Amino acid sequence: MPVSERLSRLGSGVFARNDRRKEAYRQRRMESAAPLPELLDLSLGSTDLQPPPAALEAIAAALGRPESASYCLHASTLPFREAVAAWAERRFGTRVDPETEVLLLVGSQEGTAHLPLAVLDPGDAALLLDPYYPSHMGGLHLASARPVLLPLQADQGWRPVFERVSDTDWQELKLMVLGFPHNPTATTGEQAWIDAAVERALRHDVVLAHDNPYVDLALEGEAPALLRNPAWGACGIEFFSFSKSWCLGGYRLAFAIGAEWLITALRQLKGVVDFNQSLALQAGAIAAIEQAPDWPARLREVYRDRRDRMSAALDAAGWAVPRPSMALYLWLPVPKAARERGLDSEAFAAALLEGTGVCLTPGNGFGPGGEGWQRLALVHPADDLEAGAARMGAWLAAL
Ligand SMILES: Cc1ncc(COP(=O)(O)O)c(C=O)c1O
Repeated sequence: MPVSERLSRLGSGVFARNDRRKEAYRQRRMESAAPLPELLDLSLGSTDLQPPPAALEAIAAALGRPESASYCLHASTLPFREAVAAWAERRFGTRVDPETEVLLLVGSQEGTAHLPLAVLDPGDAALLLDPYYPSHMGGLHLASARPVLLPLQADQGWRPVFERVSDTDWQELKLMVLGFPHNPTATTGEQAWIDAAVERALRHDVVLAHDNPYVDLALEGEAPALLRNPAWGACGIEFFSFSKSWCLGGYRLAFAIGAEWLITALRQLKGVVDFNQSLALQAGAIAAIEQAPDWPARLREVYRDRRDRMSAALDAAGWAVPRPSMALYLWLPVPKAARERGLDSEAFAAALLEGTGVCLTPGNGFGPGGEGWQRLALVHPADDLEAGAARMGAWLAAL
């Protein structure tokens, strides 16, 4: 059957490859005569922590209303957009027009993947950080755009060095996609980095998209935000999510705030694709934002404890870990012993899963800049994480 060329560019995706490996491990565990440890899945940033009860109660209360079962056109999302605009003013001191500058999304992944189709033509150039979040690259492939990678480096503190982008590339770029706090390097980043990007975007007439689902999950310092730069409305769009701050990932609730013309363009594109989330889910999002504003602060304390205990446990197990400045992830160099045996990040993740039952995400899934690294998500209680560290330590020692 004919399928498009862009599908082959999309490839299989790191999470799909991991999924197959996890399934194979579960199968082997069931069939094995010798007892194998249970799978400890630390490969997805899908939290075990729970959403605020007020959000779930609001969803439950709205489920029976007839309008919750209807298609929801943009106009009906106004209460959601007003709640979001009020949040933005509280959070960043920025006035946002809920009519023209806010858009409901089915996850920030959906928004960042669709944006390139709304602002780029085939062959247009777009800047991505490397490593990048997979949907950022996926969105460029869907739009048949030309990715220009800006490598981030550990010895530079994962700072984007915009001077490394050539003048020719700046002339050609139409879009720049950033995201700090940064997944997968677990770096909070600095406002000065975003301000420098805004300056470049204005100078070279480039759309600046800032993917910010971790805005509430900085453990050191304060997360940067495009909305803190007064010029955001002239050049940019920022993506926020209910998945991380309020643990509502499965409900697929997120929003974009940005320049009026960018919101209009994305809205027009999405008009072809979806009819917005149900009003019942939007009621949950509004309740989360208005009734549980302290939820992210509570999460930060849990993740801080997990980060500290897991880093110490991995250190003790012989795997030295850079200390991440944001919640949810550790970004670990593939240990020397494994590199000396010729294991790249994908082969290491596969062997680790085989040998220990612990599943991490190989760094190569986040672009060439992720080669040589593993991402570990702190999505289990600290005791389980420590037990996983001990398993990995014993396996590494035997390598
Ligand atoms: C950088 C980044 N963007 C987007 C997403 C997806 O967020 P959402 O659940 O809002 O689609 C993730 C999830 O891990 C992420 O790390």
